[in-house]
Order: sequence, then structure tokens, then C-alpha cells
Amino acid sequence: MKEKIGTYIEAIDKAIAKNKEELEQFRLRFISRKGVLTELFEEFKKVPNEQKREIGGELNVLKQKAQEKFQELIDQVNGSAGDNAEHDLDVTLPPIVEEGSVHPLSKVKNRIIQIFERQGFSVKEGPEIEDDFHNFTALNFPENHPAREMQDTYFISKNPDILLRTHTSNVQIRLMEHGKPPFRSIMPGRVFRNEAISARAHCFFNQVEGLYVDKDVSFKDLKQTLYHFAKELFGEDTQIRFRPSFFPFTEPSAEIDISCFICKGDGCKICKHTGWVEIGGSGMVDPNVLESCGIDPKEYSGFAFGMGIERITMLKYQIDDIRLFSENDLRFLKQF
Ligand code: DAH
Repeated sequence: MKEKIGTYIEAIDKAIAKNKEELEQFRLRFISRKGVLTELFEEFKKVPNEQKREIGGELNVLKQKAQEKFQELIDQVNGSAGDNAEHDLDVTLPPIVEEGSVHPLSKVKNRIIQIFERQGFSVKEGPEIEDDFHNFTALNFPENHPAREMQDTYFISKNPDILLRTHTSNVQIRLMEHGKPPFRSIMPGRVFRNEAISARAHCFFNQVEGLYVDKDVSFKDLKQTLYHFAKELFGEDTQIRFRPSFFPFTEPSAEIDISCFICKGDGCKICKHTGWVEIGGSGMVDPNVLESCGIDPKEYSGFAFGMGIERITMLKYQIDDIRLFSENDLRFLKQF
């Protein structure tokens, strides 16, 4: 069966369609209900269990390839139909000069990813609709503990165990519960909080989480990683400062401040004349969190951090209203 799949994949890769008939032939052969895929999936039922995983994987690749190719051929055939209709093309029309631009949040997110990837971090994602365990309990938020109220949560009314994640820290758990250390990932994504919308706060925004768990990871590593990050993103002369804080999932915990890159520490409106601006939270992963993911805290340690992407973008571009990011006002978006 593997051989058969291989031959079909080859045939798909080579397939071309010059016209609608050839396109239809491709569809009949690969996509239609009487086609190759249906036949193979039927045959797959008889594959011995121990081979199912491997062959199933290949079968899925074949299916995806067939679908992608079909779409490509459709585009090709439609495109060449357009070429025939020469009179549709008016060469005297001015070129379209107005191009779209990358959203400022995507721009900053991509830059953050780039900086951490260079330090050996991979990128992971997790669900926005989450259960209590991954958003709170496994992160060492005790039941009925006021720490849960640090984050105003949207619960799903039919099932209070299901909620919109209030932070990207849930992905730490999703990553660790099914794997083995070392873990070194950043996890960008959207989060939700039941907050009144204002220039400074929104009910949805983006965070980037970071996690590094291995043998002998120390606070020193956390400091160095974030120091490097801040310099890369905000400029070579940026300083970083850690302020003691509390998060249930880290011990010790610290707020991350960077020196104000606008006034270089002299004091201005952006840093409220303190010379420092806060960009997120961090700390050493609490042993309870490691334990709830089946990792032995005597053997492994780690650091974690979480930063708001809107906040960083607002600082970087001196944007004073968070609502601008989601209003789709072209006058704003075009500037990036
Ligand atoms: N989850 C925290 C929040 O949303 C941010 C955070 C703080 C994440 C410390 C971390 C951390 O991973 O170690 O406010």
C-alpha cells in the first residue's frame, strides 16, 4: 500500500491541466468519491493496527497533496482562460500602487519570534478556548484563591469549566504535560479578559509566553535571555530591571522593566517620569507546576515569562490607544 501511495504522490506532483477537461480528469481520478482516495481509505481499514499510524500519515499527506494540487490546477485553468480573453486586458490602466501593509502587531510579533528563534526557542501555539485545569489549576492557582481574580475571566455559561484563556501560560502546561524536558519555546497568541475597554485596556489582546526548562536553568539564564531580547528589540543601550512580584506559577517572580528608550532614563510622559517601563512578568517555574506536568522538580528547573504584544508595540511606536489595533482604520494601519 505504501508503494501505491508513493506512486500516486508522484503522479500528483507531475499532474498538469491545460483545460477544463484535464482538470475534470484529475478530479475524477483523485478527488471524486469514486477516485483513488476513497479506494485507498477503504483499503486502509484492512491495514494491521501496528502499521496504521505510519500508513495513515502517508495517506493524509496524499490527500492533502491531491487537494492542494487540485486547487492549483483550478487556478491555472482559470488563469489561462483569462489569458485567452485578450480584450479583458487594458494595458493603458495605471498600475495598482497601493499595497497592503503588515499589521503593527504582526510586525512586532514576527520580530519577537525572530529574536527568540535565534536564541534557540521554537514557536508553539495552544487553544484559545481552554479548560480550568490548563488555565489555572495546573499553573498553581489554588481553588477559590484570590489570585484567580487577578484576571477577570470569561466563562462559558453552559460549562464553567470551559473558559477563554486569560493568558498564554496555558500553553506552558500543554507543552510540558505531553513531553520530556528540555523545553525551550515561545508561545504567542490571543488572550481574553472581562475588562472595560479603554485606551489602555481591551477585552482581547495578545501575549507572548516563554518557557525554558532543563537541568540547571537559573535566574541568571532568564536575565540574560531577556536582556538580549530587550537590546535587540529596543536598542543596544537598553537596560533591564527585575522588580519582585507575585505570580502563582513562578517562584520567585519578577516584573520586567526596561529603561525608557524614549528619554533614555531622564523621565518623560511614556515612562511617567520614572525612567522605566514595564513590559511583562517572569520568574522561575514553580516546582508545583512542574509536578503537575509530571516533571521532577529535583531534576529540572526552568524560567518563564509573559509579555503583552500590544503593550510592547505601543511603547515601540508610541501609540497611545490600544483600540486602534482592532478598529481597522486604514489611516492608522497604513503607517506601518
Ligand atoms: N501570565 C501572566 C499574565 O498574564 C504573565 C506571566 C508572568 C507569564 C510571569 C509568565 C510568568 O510565564 O512567568 O499576567
